[in-house]
Amino acid sequence: MRFICSYCHAYAYEESKGDPTTSLLPGTTLAQIPDDWRCPICGKGKEYLIGADDQTFSQTESIYETRRKGQAPKDIDYYRSIAREMLKGVCGAYSVCDGGPDKICYGQKFGKPIGFGGAGQGTTFHRNWTSLQSYRLLTRIVKPHHEPEMSRSLFGQRLAMPVAVASMSGVKNSMNAAIPEEDFYRGVLKGARSAGTIAMVGNTADVPDDLGVRCVAEAGGQGVPVFKPQVQERLLQLFREAEAAKAPAVGVDLDGCGSVAWSRAKKPVCRKTEKELKELVGSVGIPVFFKGVMSMEDAAAVADAGASAIYVSNHGGRVLDSGLGVADVLPSISKEFHGKVVILADGCVRTGYDVLKVLALGADVALIGRPLARMSLAGGGDAVKLYLDYVKSDLRMAMIMTGCNDLKDAGPGIITKV
Ligand SMILES: Cc1cc2nc3c(=O)[nH]c(=O)nc-3n(C[C@H](O)[C@H](O)[C@H](O)COP(=O)(O)O)c2cc1C
Repeated sequence: MRFICSYCHAYAYEESKGDPTTSLLPGTTLAQIPDDWRCPICGKGKEYLIGADDQTFSQTESIYETRRKGQAPKDIDYYRSIAREMLKGVCGAYSVCDGGPDKICYGQKFGKPIGFGGAGQGTTFHRNWTSLQSYRLLTRIVKPHHEPEMSRSLFGQRLAMPVAVASMSGVKNSMNAAIPEEDFYRGVLKGARSAGTIAMVGNTADVPDDLGVRCVAEAGGQGVPVFKPQVQERLLQLFREAEAAKAPAVGVDLDGCGSVAWSRAKKPVCRKTEKELKELVGSVGIPVFFKGVMSMEDAAAVADAGASAIYVSNHGGRVLDSGLGVADVLPSISKEFHGKVVILADGCVRTGYDVLKVLALGADVALIGRPLARMSLAGGGDAVKLYLDYVKSDLRMAMIMTGCNDLKDAGPGIITKV
């Protein structure tokens, strides 16, 4: 029997031939394909395989063959299929990355590394998705046409769009050790720069803790180091390194105090007092921000400490299960602080449409994590740029469709909660 994937229409499977790419031996019937099998092109499960007539099958087979021989255009799907291979068992590189119950990253890992998923059962990761998707964009098209103006300043840098790369790290622990950690940072830094924006770089326990800031220095300061909330003395040294690297800003992911990987590596990470935040802010001459804010109280403490930005985030749901989604808390934080302190936000931002919603909920800049991590792994800077370009073109379209001429128009009036 012959089948094609009804989701992507780019995968063909013939039972008598099997498929070496997905380890199916010749003669494996549809019923015998394991339940965790995924389409190597789009990541959907075997339930998407449908019987195909001769003509449909041979058309689809030739698309699949082209891809397998590496003659496929280097588009986002191409890089996703490479990432899927690199992240086997960790991430299905699905076309919808929502941390949902049907995804391999969902569910408890019982002490094993969480890969691309979330803490505990992964419900906070998924909540980021459901909370953001509970907002809908409103169409406004009867008005004079205007090419959307979408550039924005952040930390003294002019960004081509209100989008940046979230700080990520941990290739060894979370990404099957697929590439060296420094190449992962280089990919996001280069891709962001060539797309006209900026990347943050994370801080992991299994490489020297200043690797990220050294990569930022190598990139001529075109990147923002974000350090774990380590002991204060070390953090102050790392802040000075960031300033010396000519980084436009430096941050701490305060919620990194919940990092299992750092505790396991016996590298202390801890909560920080407002006094310590003030000391960090005063220790360098570049803007300082704090990431991991999910409550009014923490937002107020960060603002009172003199930070240049409040970064609303729950670390992609990786540090606290059963937490709120970012879109659950962003509107109230923004109501109090918008216009007084820069507001950054991330959490299941996947498209330009999502970016526009995050802006409408009160952020100045939206940041993207997992999709860009996959791009950096699979294709370095070129792939990261490709994804950011795609987000930018969707954002342009979203602004046209919602009547936004510039980012000032992207207020609460363009969305509704359903
Ligand atoms: C694999 C992985 C590693 C991460 N490492 C860090 C890190 O080192 N520092 C940090 O501040 N945040 C880290 N994060 C969180 C991201 O900065 C960001 O908050 C989150 O990924 C946003 O959600 P999204 O992935 O759904 O877009 C990491 C996230 C992932 C998925």
